[in-house]
Amino acid sequence: MSRRKKIYEGKAKILYEGPEPGTLVQYFKDDATAYNAEKKAVIDGKGALNNRLSEFFMQGLTAIGVPNHFIRRLNMREQLIRQVEIIPLEVIVRNYAAGSICKRLGLEEGMHLPRPIIEFCYKDDALGDPLVSEEHIIAFGWASQQDLDDMVALALRVNDFLSGVMLAVGIRLVDFKIEIGRIWDGDFHRLIVADEISPDSCRLWDLETGRKLDKDVFRRDLGDLADAYTEVARRLGVLPKNGLGESPKPRLVN
Ligand code: TMP
Repeated sequence: MSRRKKIYEGKAKILYEGPEPGTLVQYFKDDATAYNAEKKAVIDGKGALNNRLSEFFMQGLTAIGVPNHFIRRLNMREQLIRQVEIIPLEVIVRNYAAGSICKRLGLEEGMHLPRPIIEFCYKDDALGDPLVSEEHIIAFGWASQQDLDDMVALALRVNDFLSGVMLAVGIRLVDFKIEIGRIWDGDFHRLIVADEISPDSCRLWDLETGRKLDKDVFRRDLGDLADAYTEVARRLGVLPKNGLGESPKPRLVN
């Protein structure tokens, strides 16, 4: 029997009740899925890598004043986070054309977009997370106009931060997805970045070679996904010298 109460299980993560009210434990699984879970695999080490990488990005956001759910890492696969009321939208920011925007608009993959483009998808697996407009969002009450303005501002700040961090290690941030949640204080709420930021939810291309270092490696069978994520972690200095998943050898303690 599990020692903790499971709150929610998604495709790549599990949320458990946290040690204090208003907190949750976020567990990163090794499961990889694509095309709305039509393609599935277990990738050894992916959960540990994403736990570390999401910690790294969220801490960086905290350092520049972008509010987010991260509190602290608990172990290889788990982190303590603030509980939020998730807004049922995926907020996508695109700097270069790739993926669904190419199909939708007939753009060439890799085209530099004239400015960062923000898209919203309604989070509903049964519907395949359809693209929605601000009109839909307001009309169906998923978020208010103020929430929308705040979401766009948060997404652009995350984009500036992530683009810079990646560029510094020779990686192009093509696009990414974030999720945003509400934190309530009486009748008022504010928005914070939630869920995760990892190569599962970004497109990352090597600046020189164009090598893909994100989940497209799995989606398109381009090689070993854990190798690609390890490369990202290594360049960012996130990976311990002995790697993840290897326990240090026993040592005599005097
Ligand atoms: P797309 O090109 O498939 O619309 O994806 C754009 C970016 O958003 C890409 O980095 C992958 C990410 N994304 C997710 O992480 N989860 C999702 O459900 C979707 C639709 C996109």
